[in-house]
Amino acid sequence: MAATKYRPINLIFYVYSLIIIFSAHSSTAELQRLLQPAKPDGSVSFLVIGDWGRRGSYNQSQVALQMGEIGDKLDIDFVISTGDNFYDNGLTGLHDLAFQDSFTNIYTAPSLQKPWYTVLGNHDYRGDVGAQLSPMLKALDNRWVCMRSFIVNAEIVDFLFVDTTPFVDKYFIQPNKHVYDWRGVLPRHTYLNNLLKEVDVALRESSANWKIVIGHHTIKSAGHHRNTVELEKHLLPILHANEVDLYVNGHDHCLEHISSVDSKIQFMTSGGGSKAWKGDVNKLDPEEMRFYYDGQGFMSVHISEAELRVVFYDVYGHVLHHWNTSYKEALYFAS
Ligand SMILES: *[C@@H]1O[C@H](CO)[C@@H](O)[C@H](O)[C@H]1NC(C)=O
Ligand SMILES: *[C@@H]1O[C@H](CO)[C@@H](O)[C@H](O)[C@H]1NC(C)=O
Repeated sequence: MAATKYRPINLIFYVYSLIIIFSAHSSTAELQRLLQPAKPDGSVSFLVIGDWGRRGSYNQSQVALQMGEIGDKLDIDFVISTGDNFYDNGLTGLHDLAFQDSFTNIYTAPSLQKPWYTVLGNHDYRGDVGAQLSPMLKALDNRWVCMRSFIVNAEIVDFLFVDTTPFVDKYFIQPNKHVYDWRGVLPRHTYLNNLLKEVDVALRESSANWKIVIGHHTIKSAGHHRNTVELEKHLLPILHANEVDLYVNGHDHCLEHISSVDSKIQFMTSGGGSKAWKGDVNKLDPEEMRFYYDGQGFMSVHISEAELRVVFYDVYGHVLHHWNTSYKEALYFAS
C-alpha cells in the first residue's frame, strides 16, 4: 500500500529534477558552432546585407540583382544578414508568405544560393520569433540559417553572431504600440549575462587569424539611431579585450565605415537592403569617420590568411568605398 502511494510522488520529483538539470544546462550551454569550409586556397568571401524584407520594394530587388552579380564575381561562400529580415513586424508564423515574397523569390541569382547566416533585428522581434528560428523554414528554403546567437567557424576566420535586440532598454521600457516576442529571452538579466559570458569565452578560445562579430544594432553610428549605448557599455569592452577585427551591423539604413582611434576594431554598417535615404546624418569624430552613404546597397568581404578586404556597393553595383588591412606579422613572431 505504502509503496504504491509514494511511487507517483517519486516520479514527480524525478521529472522535476530532470527539468532543473536540463534548464540549468541550457542556460550555461556553449553557443552553437557551425563549420563553414573555406575555399581550397584558404580564403573566404561573402556579402553582407541588412534591413531588407519588403517584398522587393524600395530598391530591394535592385540590390538583390547587384548582389547576384558581385556574388558571382567574388565566388562568394555565403551571405550574412544583419537582421530586420521581414518588415514591418517579422513573420506572423511559419506560413507567412513574406518568407517567399521577401527572401526566396527576391535573392534568386545562382551566386546567392549559399547559406544565409542570419540574426534577428528589432522588427523581427515584433513577430513570431520562433517561426524565424524554426528549422521548418530551412525545409522551405535550405539557405536559411537563423539563430539568436551562434558561431560560424570558417577556418581562418571566426564569426560570432550576437542577438542584440534584448540589450536595448527602450524596447522593454517604452515599447509604444509594439509587442515584442520575448519568449526565450526572459528573465532578461540572466539571458544577457549568459550571452556576454558565452561571447567572451568563444572569442577568447578562438584561434582563427580573424575575428568578426555580427549584430543587428549599431555600436558606433552617425546614422539615425546613433550609437547603441547598451552595446557600448556591455559588448564593446569584450570586443576590445579579444582584439576583434570587425563589428558588422545593420539597423541604420545606410552603408558606413567607422574606425577607432584607440583600437584596431572597425565598425561596418550594412543596413541598405531596402528602404533608405533617411537624411539625418550626424557629425562624428572626423578621424574615425571613414565613409557614410545614406542610400541602398551592400558590402562584400574577402579574407585570406594575410589580408582582409571590405568593399561597399550601391544599387547599381558601383564601388562606393573600400578598405583593407593585413594580418599583423607580430603574431607570427610572438609564437
Ligand atoms: C532607388 O535607388 C536610386 C539610386 O540610388 C534612388 O535615386 C532612388 O531614390 C531609390 N528609390 C527608393 C524608393 O529608395
Ligand atoms: C590594400 O590597400 C593598400 C593601401 O591602400 C593597397 O596598396 C593595396 O593594393 C590593397 N590591396 C588589395 C589587394 O586591394
